[in-house]
Amino acid sequence: MLIAQISDLHVTANGRLAYQRVDTVAAVEACVRHLNGLKPQPDVIVATGDLVDCGLDAEYQVLKALLAPLGRPVLVIPGNHDDRAALSRAFRDAPYLPGTDGFLHYVVEDWPVRLIGIDTVVPGAGHGALCADRLRWLADVLAKAPDTPTVVMMHHPPFRTGIVHMDEIGLLEGTLDLSAIIAGHPNVERILCGHVHRAVERRFAGTIASICPSTSHQVALDLRPGAEATFALEPPAVQLHLWTGDGIVSHTSIIGGFPGPYPFFADGTLIT
Ligand SMILES: [Fe+2]
Repeated sequence: MLIAQISDLHVTANGRLAYQRVDTVAAVEACVRHLNGLKPQPDVIVATGDLVDCGLDAEYQVLKALLAPLGRPVLVIPGNHDDRAALSRAFRDAPYLPGTDGFLHYVVEDWPVRLIGIDTVVPGAGHGALCADRLRWLADVLAKAPDTPTVVMMHHPPFRTGIVHMDEIGLLEGTLDLSAIIAGHPNVERILCGHVHRAVERRFAGTIASICPSTSHQVALDLRPGAEATFALEPPAVQLHLWTGDGIVSHTSIIGGFPGPYPFFADGTLIT
């Protein structure tokens, strides 16, 4: 089973550039071409939040049109730039999303790895939270399949990255309780996150929690306390999480055109 992860698409409408500078629509078009060119093709694509930039219906319509050429399931969770109601309207045909006004969390069991989406959004805020209701829901669904390899998806990572301005709008509620729940479930192979717009990993409660780069702009890598909030147009990427039957191995696949591939061997001989 191959999972492709994309994150922080920040799709805009009417040609608006995000932060007056970033053509996020063109970036998603390039990402979709990249995904469609992967060999082998992923079984499922997961999008870990900030699907659009301002939570607008018009932006979700652009997003849906951009994702349509993928022709395979895309599981979405909300980020702080999303709007639950508008997202639900746009993805009302998605069989996995709850058809209610509540949290957009769900379980998908169509593949060998069980996929759990968690909603960390606090409406109107940049930071995330896992309140008692969401934690109870997660504990309940994990308890139902304690031996099935599982991936948990959530927009806000449950750890500090050292990029202080992002940590200040990180998961500010529920991290300790989440840690206790995850620690009781060694079948959780990964916690896949977004929000920080660059590749970051950390050991968390006995599993690996990781952040996927954005499909467009990346948060600048600046670990100084008090560093300004800045972004850079570093190469965007997707991540590929391959279930090999006894674990998940993760790769970062950079979007863009690069020279190669070139052969190492010719006629069975190493080229020197
Ligand atoms: Fe984002």
